[in-house]
Amino acid sequence: MSLPARMTALLQPSYGSPDVLSLSEIDVPALAADGVLVRVVAAGLNKADWHLLTGRPYLLRTAFGVGAPKRPIAGMALAGPVVAVGPEVRRFQVGDAVCAEVNRGALAEYACAREKELAKIPAGVSFEDAATLPVAATSALQGLRAGGVADGQSVLINGAAGGVGTFAVQIAKVLGAVVTGVCSTGNVELVRSLGADNVLDYTTVDFTREEARYDVIFDLVGNHALAPSRGTLTPHGIFVSSAGGEDNAWFGPIPQIIGGMVSNAYSSQKFVSLMALANVDDLATVLAWMAAGRVRAVYDRRGTLAEAAELFRYLGTGRTRGKNVVTFPDTLP
Ligand SMILES: NC(=O)c1ccc[n+]([C@@H]2O[C@H](COP(=O)([O-])OP(=O)(O)OC[C@H]3O[C@@H](n4cnc5c(N)ncnc54)[C@H](OP(=O)(O)O)[C@@H]3O)[C@@H](O)[C@H]2O)c1
Repeated sequence: MSLPARMTALLQPSYGSPDVLSLSEIDVPALAADGVLVRVVAAGLNKADWHLLTGRPYLLRTAFGVGAPKRPIAGMALAGPVVAVGPEVRRFQVGDAVCAEVNRGALAEYACAREKELAKIPAGVSFEDAATLPVAATSALQGLRAGGVADGQSVLINGAAGGVGTFAVQIAKVLGAVVTGVCSTGNVELVRSLGADNVLDYTTVDFTREEARYDVIFDLVGNHALAPSRGTLTPHGIFVSSAGGEDNAWFGPIPQIIGGMVSNAYSSQKFVSLMALANVDDLATVLAWMAAGRVRAVYDRRGTLAEAAELFRYLGTGRTRGKNVVTFPDTLP
């Protein structure tokens, strides 16, 4: 089967609003010796895509490109069949169903991933479902692990209805925790349906003012100061921070992370800042849970590549309920 030389991709030539995104015809990526070419069938959007679109906090531009993104094709989470492999690739062959977290390039008809970035999709898991897992579910797993979540512990997930939160609720249940999810009124039933033992509607209840104490707080919003949040932990509880600092254009959450680290010196409780990383073993773990029916994807909006800029605009509202996914027609070679 011969592959096309050209493809359609969503290009981001500069930082800015979704208006900077445009569809372009470009060359299909060249295959590295350890590279695997995937025909993208579905690509999940993540809040990280939004940060890389806006280039905020500015500090991230030091890694991703100072004046403009070094890698202009947007997207980090993809799933699809393998259509070509480099000569050094051992674990994959043409036709395998795979998914990956990549360093950009997922929002294109074809994407090249390194062999070590890819996980095989088990039977029973669709490309679309698999594309929701890289970044979101792996961050959820890594955040809960950073909190040392174990059987019987009480865990509060602030931001339980979002892309990471919907997976965090389910994974915390898989790990045996007693889970409290925090979300707005319209998402209470959703979070309960994911297995949360308790759901707090933040429009009527402020969890930092309640009597309940938690072994772990996994914070995906960053809307509470650390002191009252710590007051909601058990004496040796762990606060896992993964968000905040939206109002600090240059440094984002860095000042609060430093504050949290300093406070560790004089508290029996612990502040941990999550720095989720692509990890293919974690991806395989959540894929296996999905195949076993223990974790499911929650979909908010779906769209084509031509509609991706609109999906980005929605992502930027911070109101996503589960995941937004870009899907591609299944007609390409
Ligand atoms: N540090 C890391 O390594 C790492 C990794 C992954 C993600 N993150 C960060 O984690 C955060 C969450 O990511 P995500 O992908 O889940 O984002 P998302 O999908 O955009 O989250 C949207 C959700 O946030 C909820 N939300 C908004 N305000 C809230 C509030 N005051 N209280 C409770 N929930 C609230 C909304 O629910 P309602 O509509 O019900 O309010 C919505 O469902 C982002 O800031 C992201 O950058 C960090």
